[in-house]
Amino acid sequence: MKSPVGNPTVELVTDSTVFDIISNTVKNSEQEEPFIVADLADIVYKFKLWKLKMPRVEPFYAVKCNDAPTVLHLLAALGTGFDCASKNEIESVLSIGVEPERIIYANPCKTRGFIKHAANVGVKMMTFDNEMELHKVKALHPDAELVIRIRVDDSSSICQLGVKFGCNVKDVPHLLGVAKKLDLNVIGVSFHVGSNCQDSGAYNSAIESCRHIFDLAEEIGFHMDFLDIGGGFPGFKGPYVSFEEICNVVAESLDEHFPPQCGVRIIAEPGRYFVASAFTLCTNIIAKRETFSEEGDPICMYYVNDGVYGSFNCLMFDHAEVEPIPLVVSSNFSHF
Ligand SMILES: Cc1ncc(COP(=O)(O)O)c(C=O)c1O
Repeated sequence: MKSPVGNPTVELVTDSTVFDIISNTVKNSEQEEPFIVADLADIVYKFKLWKLKMPRVEPFYAVKCNDAPTVLHLLAALGTGFDCASKNEIESVLSIGVEPERIIYANPCKTRGFIKHAANVGVKMMTFDNEMELHKVKALHPDAELVIRIRVDDSSSICQLGVKFGCNVKDVPHLLGVAKKLDLNVIGVSFHVGSNCQDSGAYNSAIESCRHIFDLAEEIGFHMDFLDIGGGFPGFKGPYVSFEEICNVVAESLDEHFPPQCGVRIIAEPGRYFVASAFTLCTNIIAKRETFSEEGDPICMYYVNDGVYGSFNCLMFDHAEVEPIPLVVSSNFSHF
């Protein structure tokens, strides 16, 4: 979802379809390099849909998903919060005038210098999932508002994040005990069901686990009032679980475990949900090779001028499936 290599130029066009814009760009110039078209109306639509379907949950956009300044400006204007994973991401968001209170530093394993930076610029909300992080925070940002990230079942998600982040639920009492001894402020719990989640039930089990942790935290002396349900929401309409289905499960689960009158603030960290369908990558076919498969069947390979070290890195890291759509189907397509 990142721009192709090079300095992106941004041109705003209104009242045209993505297809028109691509056609005109190609027709009116010698454009050979790959380029990306962003449909900002699609992002606005996603925001409105979110507000309609999940009014109790505040979206904090996961900046790592696409940090294009236009996207950040638009979401800031719409009023979302931001999930930042690094100092650079925090700086990008603050530089466009977003208040530090609208940022959660949602990386449970932070560089010491980055924690100091967060303290200096007033970003207080941050996640943790290990004891060492608590000692770092105590030393560098003792006023932080900490959110414990737990590991939940992400087995039905395309990108599983639990291997790397999130403490086991059985380790929560120990970590909260350490936080209490260090006199740190733990305000709530977060989880991530894995990116591109295929099972809406994963949200229900995770929210149920959070309820137990809220109750346990009370016994340890923390009064939690913050729940972060992470990301995992689909970026495209597809054959799998729909956004609407996830919203229904989340709403029902929240009503059962965290009803409106409980006073808990609920946020989420959607990434691909906001941007995946809004961006279209345009490449050129720059070469073609006709050959035969090992079985002797004729095959034709088309070469495009972007690849896995550029925009298609999502194939390697994200298990993405991309759909090629020809702009023109030419009758003499085979003769370059
Ligand atoms: C902590 C965190 N939050 C949010 C996201 C965004 O996830 P998604 O694109 O599935 O919404 C990610 C993705 O890696 C993440 O690591």
